[in-house]
Amino acid sequence: MLQISNLSIRFGEKVIFESIDFSLTQKEIVAIVGKSGVGKTTLLKIIAGLIKANTGWVKLNNEVVERPSSKIGLVFQEYFVFPWLNVERNIMTGMKYGQEKLNKDEAGAKTHKLLQSADLLTDKDKYPSELSGGMLQRVAICRTLAANPSLLLLDEPFGALDLVTRIKLHNLINDIFNLTQQGIIIVTHNINEAVSLADRVILLSGKPAHIAKEWRISKPRKNDSFLKLTDEQDNVLEEILKSLDDGVA
Ligand SMILES: Nc1ncnc2c1ncn2[C@@H]1O[C@H](COP(=O)(O)OP(=O)(O)OP(=O)(O)O)[C@@H](O)[C@H]1O
Ligand SMILES: [Mg+2]
Repeated sequence: MLQISNLSIRFGEKVIFESIDFSLTQKEIVAIVGKSGVGKTTLLKIIAGLIKANTGWVKLNNEVVERPSSKIGLVFQEYFVFPWLNVERNIMTGMKYGQEKLNKDEAGAKTHKLLQSADLLTDKDKYPSELSGGMLQRVAICRTLAANPSLLLLDEPFGALDLVTRIKLHNLINDIFNLTQQGIIIVTHNINEAVSLADRVILLSGKPAHIAKEWRISKPRKNDSFLKLTDEQDNVLEEILKSLDDGVA
């Protein structure tokens, strides 16, 4: 569904990354890891059509991505919600600009389902000023999912959250993923999170950065797997740590 070929970008004289090639099949979660400043956010912004690469292209379902569209949902660490709308209406806004044309009943049913899976049903009438950081992030994720994007890009979306909320959101991502056909790319500094959520982990490193290593994880994803890694996930985690330590990253 997503193909990336020969991407490179520089800011001024500084080449941030070059020769980035990878593809994502439908129903795949890819985690991108790498040191701070290596270019992870920049890569996501190019994939989302927010900034232009100097070389190469990004194709989503065989169409070149040239500008942002509702086909690609983006959730940043700094969650964005509309302060003047309650939780339910924030989520419904996602649908308004989304890919599907839903009637009022369908939109209501879908919102209900999202509120339920994000554990927000009892808070649906609250306004953002009345919510915690974790709740706000759940609203932001639900609003993005409400637009039914083909591809979901998550940039350190759980960074500021406590462990319990983080795991709740992992489970939400897993549940949504199992329900839909969305591909997901998640950027995270948390290696444990990367190996427990993803089918594939990509390590960006070097100056300019490139894809230094890639791991495939074949075990099926389960809820709460962050707390109990499989042997395979554990092995990959150790290899990633070693690569970071060896200065590969
Ligand atoms: N608009 C810009 N203009 C100039 N330089 C930029 C711009 N955006 C990013 N950079 C530079 O590009 C490099 C990569 O930045 P990016 O935000 O992609 O890193 P990152 O891997 O996401 O880091 P972190 O893990 O800290 O979020 C950094 O050196 C940054 O200073
Ligand atoms: Mg970043």
